[in-house]
Amino acid sequence: MCGIFGIQFSEEKKNLGEILKKAAERLTYRGYDSVGFAAVDSRGKVDLRKDKGKVDEVYGKLKMGCMKGIRGIIQLRWATFGVPSKENAQPHLGCKGNLVSAHNGNIVNTLELIQELTEKGHIFKGENDGEALCHQVEDFTEQGYTLEEAVMRANRKMDGHYACVCTVRDINEIIAVKNGSSLFLGIGEDFICVSSDLPSILLYTRKYIPLMDGEFVVFNHKEFTIKSIENGDKIERQPLIYEDDINTADKGDFPHYMLKEIHEQDEHIKELVNFVKKNTEYQTYLKEMFESSRVFFVGAGSSYNAAVIGSFYLQNLTGKTVIISNAGEFIQRWGKVLKPEDSFLLISQSGETKDVMIVLDFLEKNGLKNIFSMVNVTGSSLHMRVLKRFPILSDLEIGVAATKTFTNQVVSFLTMAAVLSGNEKILDELLNLPEYVKILVEEYDSTTKELAKELLKFNSFIFLGYGISYGGVLEGALKVKELAYLPGEGFYSSEFKHGPLALIFEGQPVVFLSTKEDSRMTVSHINEIKVRGGKIFTIAPEDEKLRKESDVFYPLPTDFYYFIPILGVIFFQLLAYHMSVLKGENPDTPRNLSKSITVD
Ligand code: F6R
Repeated sequence: MCGIFGIQFSEEKKNLGEILKKAAERLTYRGYDSVGFAAVDSRGKVDLRKDKGKVDEVYGKLKMGCMKGIRGIIQLRWATFGVPSKENAQPHLGCKGNLVSAHNGNIVNTLELIQELTEKGHIFKGENDGEALCHQVEDFTEQGYTLEEAVMRANRKMDGHYACVCTVRDINEIIAVKNGSSLFLGIGEDFICVSSDLPSILLYTRKYIPLMDGEFVVFNHKEFTIKSIENGDKIERQPLIYEDDINTADKGDFPHYMLKEIHEQDEHIKELVNFVKKNTEYQTYLKEMFESSRVFFVGAGSSYNAAVIGSFYLQNLTGKTVIISNAGEFIQRWGKVLKPEDSFLLISQSGETKDVMIVLDFLEKNGLKNIFSMVNVTGSSLHMRVLKRFPILSDLEIGVAATKTFTNQVVSFLTMAAVLSGNEKILDELLNLPEYVKILVEEYDSTTKELAKELLKFNSFIFLGYGISYGGVLEGALKVKELAYLPGEGFYSSEFKHGPLALIFEGQPVVFLSTKEDSRMTVSHINEIKVRGGKIFTIAPEDEKLRKESDVFYPLPTDFYYFIPILGVIFFQLLAYHMSVLKGENPDTPRNLSKSITVD
């Protein structure tokens, strides 16, 4: 959701435009509608080019490939304040053309700031919050403050969660601030850069520093200083080396990241299962988390759906009470009844989701101590702030729709439940799961394409699951909504007759996910729909009755009860992927969505 990047070299680069484009391409997965590059050359000339549109389109149209300079700033914008337009696109220039800056995130007191600065004579070209920030910094420099002091003062006036980057024409340095949105510093041989996230930095260097909220960094091509926004105190932090596989940021031979990420799930499952079995820290945190009589699992979107399945595993196998909550709803629903002994697991692929970070702020503010995290992105805000971590080891996930990270969240929950309950059968079976996933992906890649063609003839879909399958159909429905842009609703199958049954008409497609153990109940729910004309597609382990009652039956490669939601969702991921491609959409970047949702 918006992305910023800034880079300072030791000398003028004739191909700065190309360098910036590569970084911009790595930011696209976050979601965006406008693109802007600003280049500053060694004589202090600022070249700013920006517009709404995709990177290739804007880059070609504005001939950004010709941009030269010693430093550059880019921004990919996902509109919140002001419509997508050239004026609202970032970076912004101050009134004097001396200061250039960009931000990502939200500044909620923008209207007040614009009014105050306009009264002082600043001229605004759009309504964007980043423009307010730019003029506010400029205003302080005009009052005689150094750039650093102006940045600190301006940021203390901002109300919101964001990160920003700025530079002036005549000083060979860049300043960047982290205040609620992620920000990483990258340290290279002849440059230093800063970015909203790691993939764009990893293009150029593995040496990086995640910045923390309330900090800013001042850097040239070889030196950097991190300081507190509050008081300007220096903060010492050693660079880290990114050890994971960085090839995951490439599509390889696949047409889309999403398909690649679906295909590599077996490998990531293998890695995670082996890790959990051996890692003593993981086991220690697990015991500690479940010492509480109530454990809250909190996440959004797919991470919430993973928690639905995870809580089923844990309650079923260990008898412990797990309460699941959407992150956005948590404080309203549970805020008044939390107890010091409660445990909280915050689940987030990106580690940046604002709804989740607000929960973390709330728990910390209320002195609640037993906080754990399940996060994929190393160095993200959640990863840095909650150190009792349950890693999911999925490497970078570039496709906006969660696939391999969802799967490993669920696998992690199953491993937790198996370890806590000492269930050796599950631990042994988990070693076979990668093979089942591989078989499923190979067998069903083309079949799901056929099914996608058939389902696209309809305008809506119903996904039904009973017991352990429920979380799986919620995730299947979410995948179809976000990728095919069609209403797919997931329901608990026994709940369906209490109202939603009215949705059934002759030919309405209804997709069931079922375990073998639940087949009797599933058959009964299938019949309620069949007699009203619904067309039944069932995904389940081989089962004579289920096959007979369904219009189309897709057998899963195993009947192991605990794996059915995992395999079912992978089937749905393929289905949604093909629906998107068949509709001529790009499944990696569904409209209106972004990889990390850093707004309210
Ligand atoms: C769906 C999807 C979103 C995210 C949600 C939470 O495919 O990706 O629903 O799951 O925005 O994101 P994280 O897990 O990063 O907190």
